[in-house]
Amino acid sequence: MAAPVLEVDALSKHFGGVAAVAGVSLRLEPGRIYGLIGPNGSGKTTLFNCITGLERRDAGRVLFNGRRIDGLKPFEVARLGIGRTFQIIRVFPELSALENLLVVTDGPLAAARTRALELLRFVNLEGLKDEYAGNLSYGQQKLVEFVRVLMRDPTLVLLDEPAAGVNRTLLNDLLDAVRRLRDEGKTILLVEHDMKVVMGLCETVFVLDHGEKIAEGPPGLIQADERVIEAYFGR
Ligand SMILES: Nc1ncnc2c1ncn2[C@@H]1O[C@H](COP(=O)(O)OP(=O)(O)O)[C@@H](O)[C@H]1O
Ligand SMILES: [Mg+2]
Repeated sequence: MAAPVLEVDALSKHFGGVAAVAGVSLRLEPGRIYGLIGPNGSGKTTLFNCITGLERRDAGRVLFNGRRIDGLKPFEVARLGIGRTFQIIRVFPELSALENLLVVTDGPLAAARTRALELLRFVNLEGLKDEYAGNLSYGQQKLVEFVRVLMRDPTLVLLDEPAAGVNRTLLNDLLDAVRRLRDEGKTILLVEHDMKVVMGLCETVFVLDHGEKIAEGPPGLIQADERVIEAYFGR
């Protein structure tokens, strides 16, 4: 087994009386695509927030390339090489697609511009680089947000429902891009409700229910798992 890129160890997070994440452990190896699924409210976004420093965990550890990152601030986590998208789109509508990528850079502008154009090409949006992000379709905005995360060249990418509301053509562009990232050796963890997307993309799937990890394995087995079926359809 390869050394893990990310290790989440017995992580817990409560909001008042709600155990949003309850003792979850995960291990992600480099160059793989992982899925994170579970009913609404099962703790997927909270887990992302705890990994990326947006929420402070109550208990447990998070290690990135063997180094403790729980307790770090979001910008510190990002700087180490973890990128994420949000369930709710966060593009700047009054900036162009290209400018939306340039806002996250701190190095020389010419190099950033080259990188940004390369990334827009990566998802077939180069032709829309000067369009206001607010004029792009919902799916195109999600792609802009996705490639903005790649500006800093993260080694681990967390995607929170990247496919939701994205039409089929753009979805294929997105899925291709995710596979190419994996082929470059990056690790991807994505929250996704569409089982077809999960089945076609992920090698390993983790299932959360009421904050607990109830299953882990290849998507084919997960789909047939009694506890998973119960969590989705049993109530
Ligand atoms: N900031 C918060 N304050 C209070 N409760 C929260 C907060 N964020 C999430 N929760 C609760 O934690 C649980 C998990 O939510 P969430 O992580 O958003 O689930 P998911 O992303 O799987 O839909 C839910 O019961 C939700 O209401
Ligand atoms: Mg969520």
